[in-house]
Amino acid sequence: MAVLEPGDPSELARRAAAGFAERYAAPPTVVGRAPGRVNLIGEHTDYNRGLVLPVALPHATYAAAAARTDGLVRIASASQAEPWDGSLDAIAPGSVPGWAGYAAGVLWALREAGYEVPGVDLHIDSTVPLGAGLSSSAALECSVAVAVAGLLGLDLDDGLREALVDAGVRAETEVVGAPTGGMDQAIAVHGEEGCALLIDFDADVHRAVPLELGGRTLLVTDTRVTHELTDGGYAGRRAECEQAARLLGVPSLRQADPEAVERIEDEVVRARARHVVTEVARVEATLAALDAGDWPAVGRCFLASHVSMRDDFEISTPELDTAVSVAVEAGALAARMTGGGFGGSSVAIVPDDRVAAVTRAIDAAFALNGYRPASHLVATPSAGAGLVEPVS
Ligand code: GLA
Repeated sequence: MAVLEPGDPSELARRAAAGFAERYAAPPTVVGRAPGRVNLIGEHTDYNRGLVLPVALPHATYAAAAARTDGLVRIASASQAEPWDGSLDAIAPGSVPGWAGYAAGVLWALREAGYEVPGVDLHIDSTVPLGAGLSSSAALECSVAVAVAGLLGLDLDDGLREALVDAGVRAETEVVGAPTGGMDQAIAVHGEEGCALLIDFDADVHRAVPLELGGRTLLVTDTRVTHELTDGGYAGRRAECEQAARLLGVPSLRQADPEAVERIEDEVVRARARHVVTEVARVEATLAALDAGDWPAVGRCFLASHVSMRDDFEISTPELDTAVSVAVEAGALAARMTGGGFGGSSVAIVPDDRVAAVTRAIDAAFALNGYRPASHLVATPSAGAGLVEPVS
């Protein structure tokens, strides 16, 4: 069984600092860290002003940084062949291609928000798997945001945290051009150890929800069918949701009446809207079930969410369907696909003593079906973004 370890934060900060020193021949001033995430429930609800319930992973991205006085920006990563160099003033929507756009975009967005961002050298290192639907892009954005805030000597208080979330969102939606909804950056910055984060995108509030897992493991399975949020599928779903809201005459699907949804004539648009309104209700039901320690009810919510994404929102894949059904057959209490879809990962809640059996069963089913081997990770609910002292 392939299990992806998160690594120790100070050791990974040291690794990022060493990579920085090797590349730029001087040590970094700060190392920013921001986690990936797994969403427990509430999928494609963020941009519909709904509810989401993500957890910050122990797997994180580390950005080692030092300011420059000449207005140049250099961005490199241990996991990417192509570094990017350019002038800070040249960074604008669409101007930085590829992965470096997420980092450069944050510098642009922080400047747009009025921060005196200097030229900067950045070296990135990460244990968040790429393209696994675990929010590696928001981890990258927020690790850079927190590193730049560190270079500016700013105090990471609530106001600054909100500004860093906004900078990450603008980097992704405006500079890179992926029309995502904001959940990923919010959990990367506001995540708390031992907790999930309930975010209400209509009221614009969030609160930590302690997760009493007691003897249960949050198991994530990366199907290694890669997913891209810039390739059109995601934007298409978002456009259909907006169309549904327009047809219903409501500002967003959060305000939609479930009975009115069923009267939408277009079958596809009706199904998309149905997913969103039922998914928001499932977030509420999951919260109540978690609060009551009612695991069978959590399991029913997860399963209904998966079926809704498979049949109404049509964003699942055979690999995700297999990971979910096999996990439940092998003893998981709850399982569903998670994230944007079209590939990526599933999440399951598994009694500790069934974890090995569940991963074995998924691996066997994948081999039997001729799928690429999956990779698993344990999603211990972890803290959001901050600076890390590298061990020396
Ligand atoms: C991606 C996006 C998020 C959210 C999820 C689906 O992760 O970045 O904003 O829409 O998909 O819930």
